[in-house]
Amino acid sequence: MSEESSTATATVPAPKAPAASEGEALLQVHDLVKHFPIKKGLLQRQVGAVQAVDGLTFDVRQGETLGVVGESGCGKSTMGRLITRLLEPTSGKITFEGVDISHLSTAKMRPLRRDIQMIFQDPYSSLNPRHTVGTIVGAPFRLQGIKTENGTKAAVQDLLELCGLNPEHYNRYPHEFSGGQRQRIGIARALALRPKMIVADEPVSALDVSIQAQVVNLLDDLQTELGLTYVVIAHDLSVVRHVSDRVAVMYLGKIVEIADRDSLYASPMHPYTNALMSAVPVPDPSRKQEHNRILLTGDVPSPVNPPSGCHFRTRCWKATEKCAEIEPPLVALKTGHQVACHYPENAPTDVIAETITVSKEAGEAVAKAAEAAVAAKAEETAEAAETAEVAEVAAAEEAPADAEPEAAEAAAEESTEAVESTEAAESTEGADAKGETKS
Ligand SMILES: Nc1ncnc2c1ncn2[C@@H]1O[C@H](COP(=O)(O)OP(=O)(O)O)[C@@H](O)[C@H]1O
Ligand code: SF4
Ligand SMILES: [Mg+2]
Repeated sequence: MSEESSTATATVPAPKAPAASEGEALLQVHDLVKHFPIKKGLLQRQVGAVQAVDGLTFDVRQGETLGVVGESGCGKSTMGRLITRLLEPTSGKITFEGVDISHLSTAKMRPLRRDIQMIFQDPYSSLNPRHTVGTIVGAPFRLQGIKTENGTKAAVQDLLELCGLNPEHYNRYPHEFSGGQRQRIGIARALALRPKMIVADEPVSALDVSIQAQVVNLLDDLQTELGLTYVVIAHDLSVVRHVSDRVAVMYLGKIVEIADRDSLYASPMHPYTNALMSAVPVPDPSRKQEHNRILLTGDVPSPVNPPSGCHFRTRCWKATEKCAEIEPPLVALKTGHQVACHYPENAPTDVIAETITVSKEAGEAVAKAAEAAVAAKAEETAEAAETAEVAEVAAAEEAPADAEPEAAEAAAEESTEAVESTEAAESTEGADAKGETKS
């Protein structure tokens, strides 16, 4: 079977009217955190946490493609699984079309599964080898109990055609298809219920270079035809450049830079973005000389114990003491261009001065607040001691102090329960995800 490149215009049910107008945020993410607990020993005590996603704030606008890049282990897939709610967030807020979906149960998420779909990286493991293409692509209809006008088979065949596959191959098994065609099957399955948003996790990484462009073009065509909103995760900057309207760069669980595609590629401000870009080969030999390659040394540090201050400082050639002490906030240095670095590159100089003043002021404010808190605490303690003395009821005063550890224990028990229930939920969600993955 040859790899078809065209996307046929099959008759499929009309897409649902977009609820949000062009440019409006379809998905909003605020301070999203996912820490995977590390447990040890017989009692399975938590001894630490993998800080896979550590405070992400961004939005995805109706009809756009947000590209997400970063090296392996930066938390991109975890972010994708959080916003599709295949994972339960540790904290933070995810809002889809104005509805808070951060902690919705599997049952409550079910209707929303129609609107938010995911395409997985590996087209080999994401399709059940024992099911035919018809069963795989038709699964969402069955799972959601949806009846289509001319029956599920006709709807599935329309989807196959839409994704450049032969509808006659409805009864074939995944192993009879090439990698690119399998990914098309995965895309057809994701499109079955006419979602509003698709999160594609490295959709072409597992494919031959020659096939990658065809699948990327298919995603592009489908977006135009169906008005889809995409979040495309990739470690390859050239893929992201091709498909994205805006790009977010992730490093060790955080967004370090987010901007319109053209602004980011024309003037990357974060040293990490610069390093990633310098690794992209330049096709024009005459430009080679001006292309200074920045070699990133070492690996991404462990998210179990990330560096203090700026997470990138252990690999950054511009790092200073300040970088180790103060975490740089993600701030807008140009319209629509945010960066988290104390010494950004390509930034307007007046803005840099402003940022430095702002972060200095912010640092001072934090220090003042901490001082005030310490002073207030000292005052409180002194007052309490005085009261105790005056009333000569030191014993009575001690009682609440004794009670404190009990309260702390109760709180710890509660939080353990919470952790356990979150994990139970996670494993259910994981199973759920797996079920969906395997259709
Ligand atoms: N279920 C999990 N349990 C524990 N750690 C995990 C889990 N999933 C991912 N991680 C860890 O979280 C970090 C980020 O992983 P991931 O989101 O897959 O990154 P990326 O997709 O950018 O390569 C990695 O260190 C990974 O080992
Ligand atoms: S804050 Fe410092 S360490 Fe971090 S990227 Fe900027 S210069 Fe490098
Ligand atoms: Mg990944």
